[in-house]
Amino acid sequence: MEPDQVKMVLVGEAKVGKSSILARYISNTFQEFGTPTLGCAYHTRQLNINDKILKLNIWDTAGQERYQSLSKSYSRDSKIIILVYDITSYESFKSMKRWYEILQRDTVSPTTIFGVFGNKADLIHNEEVPITEVQKFANSINASFRKTSAKENAGIEEGLLELCKRYLKI
Ligand code: GTP
Ligand code: MG
Repeated sequence: MEPDQVKMVLVGEAKVGKSSILARYISNTFQEFGTPTLGCAYHTRQLNINDKILKLNIWDTAGQERYQSLSKSYSRDSKIIILVYDITSYESFKSMKRWYEILQRDTVSPTTIFGVFGNKADLIHNEEVPITEVQKFANSINASFRKTSAKENAGIEEGLLELCKRYLKI
């Protein structure tokens, strides 16, 4: 049986940890000093959920400003969009909300499933974004919210699984 394919994309400001989240998810690795993504990177992973096989086609976009239109085009047709911010940077939370506005304006279909990941959860002592504020935003766009840590491998597997289940409506 051919697996169901689903296109997923991660967007958010530079350095929030999008590539690190995927490195953890795909190969269970973490680099303390990762390199910025240039353009876009692509990963796949197959998941067995109940009796279904789901093939994830995951696009890791570049957060740097000059790649914005490219990142936007990779978000087009994505069934699942993960908005990522860094819990130690209020600026990255604002940037994430801008990303949502941009995508919402012209690229996203009403059935798109959104997730919000607050990454670098291991740096809890430097948290700058009030959780109530994130939760309010996530609720307003019907997104699942999770804190994640690529460094300590927390929340990623669960967060992605939850989004896939929402996609499969199970
Ligand atoms: P762009 O590709 O430029 O958009 O950045 P990015 O969002 O892909 O960020 P990247 O994964 O390259 O991570 C940026 C920096 O944050 C790197 O030095 C990572 O080691 C660090 N980092 C990523 N995730 C975590 C985390 O969960 N905790 C901590 N402490 N550091 C992290
Ligand atoms: Mg990157």
